[in-house]
Amino acid sequence: MKRYLITLALACSLACTPKSSTPVYLDPSQPIEARVNDALGRMTLEEKVAMTHAQSKFSSAGVPRLGIPELWHTDGPHGIRPEVLWDDWDQAGWTNDSCTAFPALINLAATWNRDMALLYGDCIGAEARYREKDILLGPGINICRTPLGGRTFEYMGEDPYLAGQLVAPYVKGVQQNGVAACVKHFAVNNQEMRRTSTNSIVDDRTLYEIYLPAFKAAVQEGGAWAVMGSYNLYNGQFNCHNHRLLCDILKDEWNFDGVVISDWGGCRDDDEPITNGLDIEMGTWTNGLRGAASNSYDNYHLARPYLERLKDGRATEEELDGKVRRILRTVFRTSMSPEPHFGSFTSPEHFQAAREIAADGIVLLKNDGVLPLKLHEGARLLVVGENAYKMMVVGGGSSNLKTKYESIPLDALQEAFDGHCEVVWERGYVGDTTTDYNKVVTGQDLSESRSAAQLMADALEQARMAEVVLYIGGLNKSAYQDNESTDRLDITLPYGQDALIEALAQVAGKLVVVNISGSPVAMPWASRINAIVQAWYGGSEAGHALADVLTGAVNPSGKLPFTMPLALADGPLKTERQYPGIKPEGETWWQEYYDEGVFVGYRWYDTQDIPVQFPFGHGLSYTTFDLKDARVRKAGDGFRVSATLTNTGSVAGAQVVQLYVADPEASVARPAKELKGFQKVYLKPGESRQLSFTLDKQALSFFDADAHAWVAEPGDFQALLGFSSADIRAVVSFTLASK
Ligand code: BGC
Repeated sequence: MKRYLITLALACSLACTPKSSTPVYLDPSQPIEARVNDALGRMTLEEKVAMTHAQSKFSSAGVPRLGIPELWHTDGPHGIRPEVLWDDWDQAGWTNDSCTAFPALINLAATWNRDMALLYGDCIGAEARYREKDILLGPGINICRTPLGGRTFEYMGEDPYLAGQLVAPYVKGVQQNGVAACVKHFAVNNQEMRRTSTNSIVDDRTLYEIYLPAFKAAVQEGGAWAVMGSYNLYNGQFNCHNHRLLCDILKDEWNFDGVVISDWGGCRDDDEPITNGLDIEMGTWTNGLRGAASNSYDNYHLARPYLERLKDGRATEEELDGKVRRILRTVFRTSMSPEPHFGSFTSPEHFQAAREIAADGIVLLKNDGVLPLKLHEGARLLVVGENAYKMMVVGGGSSNLKTKYESIPLDALQEAFDGHCEVVWERGYVGDTTTDYNKVVTGQDLSESRSAAQLMADALEQARMAEVVLYIGGLNKSAYQDNESTDRLDITLPYGQDALIEALAQVAGKLVVVNISGSPVAMPWASRINAIVQAWYGGSEAGHALADVLTGAVNPSGKLPFTMPLALADGPLKTERQYPGIKPEGETWWQEYYDEGVFVGYRWYDTQDIPVQFPFGHGLSYTTFDLKDARVRKAGDGFRVSATLTNTGSVAGAQVVQLYVADPEASVARPAKELKGFQKVYLKPGESRQLSFTLDKQALSFFDADAHAWVAEPGDFQALLGFSSADIRAVVSFTLASK
């Protein structure tokens, strides 16, 4: 806001100067391209180069002489990062930067709800604008290729269609606040282990069918104004200056007209970034201003070395202008946009939105009727597990947040049952006792003096006296769990939790397990538990959202955005060359071969007919649904699939009807089914609704790498309608005729 006023003031003062009119670039009524051209024409070479690299940890330069503001970048996908020092990751120590923490993106993905994605984007965009940030470093949409991926919690699951459908409204929501969404991390960045030294080797069909569609949707449907390159290499070239990804695909094929930003430290070369599509270099590991003899930001690849190349003819000003145009476009879309935006921060509406989104994505995996909890007056509810108490907003890497307030499950349950029954907590195990990350502190004390055996004994003793035992455990955001820069080591629950759950199952009258995690975990005890709930890192309102679902205030309607396998070994990544990669003699980088091709997640399990713990798209409700009258008919160039959904139970609730397509006779190996449509439908008891889905030719196509084109082969197809990838309620066949 301040910067906007300064710019307006400058516009006015220039406008009031005798014989001069308002310069085009300062005139908000002029088209953006005219403003860009005008500003560019007034800039010196040095001013242009200054815009192409960082000037602090999270900002890049503007043109002070012309009143063009700097660009302020901020993490991240789940909330607005607290201020750090100008030139360091350390906290700046502000007292007015505690944000609303929204649920992790995997929680949003589990809502399967486009409206929630728009709401999320709109709220976080408003928070960013209030904090005078121009570029929000998110959302992240890399596909969950392995359950071990450390950042699965920050992404939107294993299916490109689902991720694409949710990322587009998120981006729109952010950008309607005059803040650019920076979609990350482009591309084929599917593991944290050795993330800066691994070359992803992916065939074109797999690239186009699995790893690119969500990015394409973000750009073409969401209209994203910024994209961040990833740390890894593809085709032997670093992705922050990868010619094929950034120039050929993003900018040429998709007509992306926004700005490409490097991941922090992802720019690795002097030459390549100039010609290979990078527009702004951020976070390179120079020491900035601190302790350096000169301003080290001048040493960035796109700083002095770039200027030297321009001056001695090794780089062209035309190419530089291309970058600066994109940067100026970003400025005119954000801080200098014609429509002033003011944003809002930590408003009650934002906390309410966080609570609704978190609850909408909680997944009821199993229920024998124990949920929603209906306890007798004066009964005892025993809550066991560290995650009932541990605050989860702090931690995890760059999505670490300082929130104004965090609701924890234990408090929320005590609130919900206050005056009705007794809620008692036993920790049961000690997991991660850290209560700070990057010097953001939760203020909790998680120290524990009891031994592991004593903790278990105490929990078991209490369990015998409780009407219901509610276990709230899972993962957290410490290293080798749901965490940036490390991958998980396996998918079993840490800290001896499996043994504890098994022991509780022996003594508890009723046992409900709530797994809080951002990625799949093995549940070997699943058959011995009365109910299982998958909750996520729910942000500021995590506890309330969980209590809402457990008590029935909210009828669960979340669906798994990834497969929950029985064992890691069942998955498609069988060899070291697939994961985590190999380093053959003479190679500089680790080589990771995507040999499984398009068979990722349910595309693998369903095609191979491998049993899983819980399938992709699975999620129960406190009511029941019926799907009838499935039909398909030709509609224009494509097909229309319809069916009637009825709420056959006694409470209102939502079902996500999923449409998969199967192409049983293709000339290439295709997955048994692929998600091509979904609708989340809220119905009152007894209510019915007719649903209709359109399948265009794209939905029937595979990517033919030789022809570099999408191909829908004439012949028979099936449309499968259901409530998960395994719970198919209707199959209708249709034929695509040859032309
Ligand atoms: C992460 C990005 C993040 C950036 C800035 C990097 O390490 O990979 O996702 O936006 O840091 O904090």
